[in-house]
Amino acid sequence: MMTIAEAALASSSTGKTISIPLLGNLGLEYLDLYLIHFPASLRPGLGFPFEKEDIAAMDYESVWEAMEECQLLGLTKSIGVSNFSCKKLHNLLATAKIPPAVNQVEMNPLWQQKRLREFCEEKGIHITAYSPLGVKGTPWGTNLVMDSQILKEIATTNGKTVAQVCLRWIYEQRVSVVVKSYNKERMKENLEIFDWKLSTEDLHKIEQIP
Ligand SMILES: NC(=O)c1ccc[n+]([C@@H]2O[C@H](COP(=O)([O-])OP(=O)(O)OC[C@H]3O[C@@H](n4cnc5c(N)ncnc54)[C@H](OP(=O)(O)O)[C@@H]3O)[C@@H](O)[C@H]2O)c1
Repeated sequence: MMTIAEAALASSSTGKTISIPLLGNLGLEYLDLYLIHFPASLRPGLGFPFEKEDIAAMDYESVWEAMEECQLLGLTKSIGVSNFSCKKLHNLLATAKIPPAVNQVEMNPLWQQKRLREFCEEKGIHITAYSPLGVKGTPWGTNLVMDSQILKEIATTNGKTVAQVCLRWIYEQRVSVVVKSYNKERMKENLEIFDWKLSTEDLHKIEQIP
C-alpha cells in the first residue's frame, strides 16, 4: 500500500497532481469508496452556499479520469457516482476505463427508480439508496413516505414500523441503503430488517404506489 505522499509523487510524475481532499485530515491512507457527489460543477473557488448561475456543466471525461487515477494509485478501493441519470451514466461509460462501482441516488417506495435500476443492473453498477425515508419534516424532503397510508397498513400487518417497511423493501430490491438517525432507538430499529420479509402481496401494493 502506497502512502498518500508516495501516491502524490507517483501522480506528479505523470504531470498531474492527484489527491483526495481531507483524506489526510481523516487519518486514512485510503477510502473504500469515493463518489462524485453530483453531476455538475461550480465555478472554481466556490463552495456552499452558491447561486444557480454559479453551476457549470461538468467535464465528465477528465473528472472521471482523475477518479480512475485515484483508484489506480490506491487512494481508494472503488470509485462511483451519485445522482447520475441513465443518460449521464451512458455518457460516462462511453469513455470510462473503470466503470463506476456504485450510483448513489434518492430512492424510497415513493420514488422507486425502476428504469435507473434496470439500466444499472444491466451495466453492473450497484445502486445505493439515500433519503430512504423521505427526510420527513425538512424543506427539501417529503412527508409522503412516512405518512403513506399503504405503508402504514403494511407495517401494521407485519408488526413493523413504516421505516422498517421502507428499508426492507429497498433491501429486497438488491439495493443497499444509507439511512440516517441521531437517535439510538431508531438506529436499532433501522437495523432490524433482516429476519423477516415482505409478502408478495405487500410487494405488489408497494409497486402500485404512484
Ligand atoms: N448523495 C447525495 O446526494 C445525498 C443526498 C442526501 C442524503 N444523502 C445521504 O443519505 C443518508 C440518509 O439520507 P437522509 O438523511 O437524506 O434521509 P433519511 O435517512 O430518509 O431521513 C433521515 C431522517 O429520518 C429520521 N429517521 C431515521 N430513522 C427513523 C425511523 N426509524 N423512524 C422515524 N424517523 C426516522 C431521522 O430523524 P432522527 O435523527 O431524529 O432519527 C432524520 O430526520 C445521509 O447519510 C446523507 O448523507 C446523500
